[in-house]
Amino acid sequence: MTIRDWEGIALIIGAGDIGKSISDYLKTVSPKLDVIICGRNLTNQKDILLDLENDHSFISFEKHISQFTKPLRLVINTSGFLHSNVIKPEKRLSHLNRFNINKNFSINAIAPILIAKSIEKLIRPELPFSFASLSARVGSIGDNRLGGWYSYRASKAAQNQFLKTLSIEWRRKYPFSIVSILHPGTCDTKLSKPFHSSIPKDKLFTPSQSSEYLINIISKQKPSDTGKFLAWDKSSISW
Ligand SMILES: NC(=O)c1ccc[n+]([C@@H]2O[C@H](COP(=O)([O-])OP(=O)(O)OC[C@H]3O[C@@H](n4cnc5c(N)ncnc54)[C@H](OP(=O)(O)O)[C@@H]3O)[C@@H](O)[C@H]2O)c1
Repeated sequence: MTIRDWEGIALIIGAGDIGKSISDYLKTVSPKLDVIICGRNLTNQKDILLDLENDHSFISFEKHISQFTKPLRLVINTSGFLHSNVIKPEKRLSHLNRFNINKNFSINAIAPILIAKSIEKLIRPELPFSFASLSARVGSIGDNRLGGWYSYRASKAAQNQFLKTLSIEWRRKYPFSIVSILHPGTCDTKLSKPFHSSIPKDKLFTPSQSSEYLINIISKQKPSDTGKFLAWDKSSISW
C-alpha cells in the first residue's frame, strides 16, 4: 500500500514549525487521511486542544478522540522543548536547576509516553498503525561527544527508552504497529533558531524538507522496523 492509499485519521501532536509542515505535506500526499493537529495555538476548527503538561487537558483530549468514527492510523508527536524566555539549555553543570530539568522532562520525555497511553484504546489490532515521535540526535548517549544541554539531552534519552519499551509491548498486542523514534535533522524552526548560526546553509533543512524526509521514512516502514531510533536519512542512531 502506498502513502496515497492511507485511509483513516492521522493525529499530529504539536502545532510547531515541523508539526504544521508535516500536516500540510500529509494533506497533499495522502488525500484519504483526515489530518488533525493537536496542541496549543490552533488555527483550524478541526484541530484539538492539547496542553501536554496538563492532565485535565489529556482527559478532554481522550474524550474528543473517543468520538472518532474512522480508524486511527497514524500519530506523529512533533512537540518538544529546548528553550524559552526564561530557560536556556545548560552550557555547564553550574547552570542546572530543578525547574529546567522538570520542564524538559515534562515535554520531551513524559508527554510522548502519555500520548501513547491516551491513544492506545483507538488502535485496531487488525490494521497497520504507526506511532512516530521526534527525538533528537543529541539524545543519543553513545553519540554524546560535546556535552552541555544536560536537560534536553537527558529528556530525549528518556523518551527513547520509554518508546523502545512501548514498541516491545505493542509488538505483542498490536502486531501491525510500528513505533519510530526520529531525528528530523537540524531544521530552521523556532526551537533551533538561537543555535544554528554555525550550521552551513546546506545542512539546515526547512520544515518542509524535514517533513518530507520523515514521512518518507514512516511510509516505508514495516512492523519488523518497530522500536528503531533513526535520523532523517534513515540511518540508525546509537542509543
Ligand atoms: N528544529 C531542529 O533542528 C530539531 C532538531 C532535533 C530535534 N528536533 C525535535 O523536533 C520536534 C519539533 O520541533 P520544532 O523544531 O518544530 O520546534 P517548534 O516549532 O518549537 O515546535 C515544538 C512544538 O511543541 C509544542 N509544545 C511545547 N510544549 C507544549 C505543551 N505543553 N503542550 C502542547 N504543545 C507543546 C510547542 O507549542 P507552543 O508553540 O504552543 O509552545 C511547539 O509548537 C521537537 O521534538 C524537537 O526537539 C528539532
